[in-house]
Amino acid sequence: MNNPNQPAQTPGETVARLSLAEKADLTTGAGWWHTIAHPDAGIPEIRLSDGPHGLRLQNDTQADHLGINNSAPATCFPPAVTLASTWDTDLAGRVGGALARECLAHGVHVLLGPGVNIKRSPLCGRNFEYFSEDPLLSGVLGAAWVKGLQAQGVGASVKHFAANNQETGRMSVSADIDIRALREIYLPAFRRVVAEAEPWTVMCAYNRVNGVHASENPWLLTDVLRGEWGYDGLVVSDWGAVVDRARALAAGLDLEMPSSSGAGPARAVTAVESGELSEEALDRSAARVVALARKAATHARPDAAYDPAAHHDLAREVATRGAVLLKNDGALLPLDPDTPQRIAVIGEFARTPRYQGEGSSRVTPTRLDDALTSIIEAAPAAHVTFAPGFPVDAPDVDAAALHEEAVRTAESADVAVLFLGLPPSFESEGYDREHIELPTEQSRLLAAVVAVNPNAVVVLANGGVVRLAGWIDDVPAVLEGWLLGQAGGSATADLLFGRANPSGRLAETIPQRLADTPAYLAWPGENGHVAYSEGLFVGYRHYDARDMPVSFPFGHGLSYTTFDYADLRVASDAAGIDVTVAVTNTGERAGHEVVQVYVAAPGERVRRPVRELKGFATVCLTPGETQNVTVRVARADLAYFDTAAGTWLVEGLDHRIDVGSSSRDIRLTATVPVKGDVYAEEPGADSTVAVWLAHPVGGPAIEALLLRVQKSMGDAYPKERSPRHRMVANMRLSQLAQIPIVPLGFDDVQQLVERVRSAAGTGGQATP
Ligand code: BGC
Repeated sequence: MNNPNQPAQTPGETVARLSLAEKADLTTGAGWWHTIAHPDAGIPEIRLSDGPHGLRLQNDTQADHLGINNSAPATCFPPAVTLASTWDTDLAGRVGGALARECLAHGVHVLLGPGVNIKRSPLCGRNFEYFSEDPLLSGVLGAAWVKGLQAQGVGASVKHFAANNQETGRMSVSADIDIRALREIYLPAFRRVVAEAEPWTVMCAYNRVNGVHASENPWLLTDVLRGEWGYDGLVVSDWGAVVDRARALAAGLDLEMPSSSGAGPARAVTAVESGELSEEALDRSAARVVALARKAATHARPDAAYDPAAHHDLAREVATRGAVLLKNDGALLPLDPDTPQRIAVIGEFARTPRYQGEGSSRVTPTRLDDALTSIIEAAPAAHVTFAPGFPVDAPDVDAAALHEEAVRTAESADVAVLFLGLPPSFESEGYDREHIELPTEQSRLLAAVVAVNPNAVVVLANGGVVRLAGWIDDVPAVLEGWLLGQAGGSATADLLFGRANPSGRLAETIPQRLADTPAYLAWPGENGHVAYSEGLFVGYRHYDARDMPVSFPFGHGLSYTTFDYADLRVASDAAGIDVTVAVTNTGERAGHEVVQVYVAAPGERVRRPVRELKGFATVCLTPGETQNVTVRVARADLAYFDTAAGTWLVEGLDHRIDVGSSSRDIRLTATVPVKGDVYAEEPGADSTVAVWLAHPVGGPAIEALLLRVQKSMGDAYPKERSPRHRMVANMRLSQLAQIPIVPLGFDDVQQLVERVRSAAGTGGQATP
């Protein structure tokens, strides 16, 4: 560290005293999980570790970024798929805080998470690590998690920036995305986390974005991230994402991880010496590494410890809050723990939980609760029998014998609880799924069990969506458990026996078929490119625009109680809209409701989704209790990205506010007038008449001209909105000038263009 007797040097001053080679070294890792220290220069090392749903602490000799080697025990919280289903920012913040305490106890300065990439297709092998198909939900939860982590003095690394939405070809594929979809769907979660939580680091993705590797993409890493969003932290590469160190530094990629065994620094030095890379670019990145290392050191707490039991309890709370009750016909759930009933527990996952995903996020848990033990403990009056029913990633096991035994077990029970789901090999970082079906032996078992015992409850364990259509009609109750973390077994028992009331809401749509999904035809791309041809229409935006049936819509989730919505009020001011609604618990149990606010924004200039989530709030109500819930919708979130203007614009028209319990269960609706941003495209000679008419200076001039034509044509002039009128609106002004009846010559067109140009600034002001 700096000598306390000397005035502290700024990171820039420290870097200025280093040699070129030392500066280059500083911008690359030392080994797998550390950065290089220069104690004499007051630069400590930083220790980074995976993330995101638990601390994956490895030593450097057994390091890997694929989930192969072991790591030290740490609390395995439910992965993002489950945390997202809680829709609870407070809970996300508490998980962040707990993770930070574990990091501090192990001397880790930066935890590699959260992942806020959008779930473009259910096939993405890493969907379990991401929050949602919706950018607002992903960003709000990601920001809460980062705030919770960093408040304790541990840095986050929001990842993978950007457009890492598939694992197929992830190291090289180009995500080819039109600018509106990038701005409105794939970047906003990052933008929100940067703006609201100021993450210490941002991790770039492996893939290319519109042809350029994310690790050397100046538009992404510098123009947008720093220029537009004002980010002043450090950009780190995904592990091994740097292709060319000099281009990466020039683009704004500060820290290459892990060590490239000298290759990266050597390339940087040569590039500076040859003039290919400016030394300032290297200095800037080196200074950011110094700044981060010093910040991390000031927060280190060598005596820190955490309470594993308390963290296990938190993991259980998140699991109970995140599981989604999809269906509960005849109020089959909750089961009564005091009734002396026969409960058949079927499925290997009840005994061997599937509780997290595969890959770099895999954590060695401090404990592991299984559902079978927890059910036996929770219902002492019941007679519980168990049959594994099917093998999980075990090809040598006699599947037929397991099937027969399970059907017999179910037949003689009062209720059968089936634990079904995806084996670990089905979904992982590094590759994608090929379908969204349950394994065949599980679907066969399910059909056979409900044939002998229709009193069946299905509990699912899966990180990505599985298809339910085809069997869900035969089962009265389904609990979507996603991946519930190390306390998932006890949390499941809490929910099945009503010790906890289900409150999870889907953060992604469950489609009826894979063929219905938005990216179906363009997945996973070809010849190194994947065209995001569905544009903005991802998740519910797609199903709603096409008015398609789905198995369960975005936002759906049942409870053991019911909620009533009344008295919707909207109050707008210059910065946004307050949406207030009275929510009442009309049932007999305390429970959480997630009030969802969607906005249907008019799209006169461009196409807009049918409705988009713009805010939400989670409330806990006792039976009979009413609460007024206010959700703030920021004006900035009403805007769309206008590609012609190159900026965000709000249209000045009535906006509809839909408040509901899911994207397709809208309970109350209101309309609110919104003042628009003034923007008019500057027309030229070849702009259409419609563009001219929309311009504040050009419009009146063209209107006057058309009025003169109308007068001279009398009744022959095309009526407003008639096909001919639309033909005129679609003509270029220069074409209009060619028509003999139109009193407009080419010189007049030029004069008009000049007038509009010289008036620029009086007409075309867009809100940033
Ligand atoms: C993953 C990152 C992870 C890193 C370090 C990469 O393969 O994409 O999410 O943080 O490895 O393990």
